[in-house]
Amino acid sequence: MSHENKQDELNQIAEEISACTKCELHKTRTNTVPGHGSANAKVLFIGEAPGADEDEQGIPFCGRAGKFLDEMIESIGLNREDVFICNTLKCRPPGNRDPEDKEKEVCKPYLQKQVEVIRPKLIVTLGRHSTATYLPGAGGISKLHGKPVRRPSGQVYLPLYHPAAALHNGGLRQTLLSDFGKIPVILSKIAKDTSNKIQETNEEETKAKQGKLI
Ligand code: URA
Repeated sequence: MSHENKQDELNQIAEEISACTKCELHKTRTNTVPGHGSANAKVLFIGEAPGADEDEQGIPFCGRAGKFLDEMIESIGLNREDVFICNTLKCRPPGNRDPEDKEKEVCKPYLQKQVEVIRPKLIVTLGRHSTATYLPGAGGISKLHGKPVRRPSGQVYLPLYHPAAALHNGGLRQTLLSDFGKIPVILSKIAKDTSNKIQETNEEETKAKQGKLI
């Protein structure tokens, strides 16, 4: 699919999202926040949910946590136009409460469609919500962060702490920056993966290989 066609498809998904009434969050949102970035992104970031700034502007990670995310993206020689940034939810939970299971469930197909269009080499889950949604049963973020995982589908994930966590806990800043620094290495390993045949592994094998696949 050409870049233009992929962009058209992403625009169409964003339009669908803007009309979505599948959960109660549509009643309190100002704007939907479908995601932002390149239709050809090699790396796709998934945060938790839009906050007040994002709801106001319709752009993911445009507040303080977003500033730190931009800084980390730039630390690996990219910028937010090179990657794709989105969230497990496309609408803001009132008062920034945690996403509810039902909200995540009804919202997930939008992100699945975006992933099918973009076909990123690497999906980075930011924080425990996004990690638990996309790597269910794998364990807590303090154990998983910085370790790439290849799912049975062949898709490679990298769980990281949420950038907002570093705003509250300065010690995590360096951990996040150092985990981020692994992204170029992981991408080049994926590119060099000459097997090209993605091995189907069962859940147990996947767990056993966590952090060792790449
Ligand atoms: N936190 C998130 O998880 N997502 C945003 O878009 C902003 C802050």
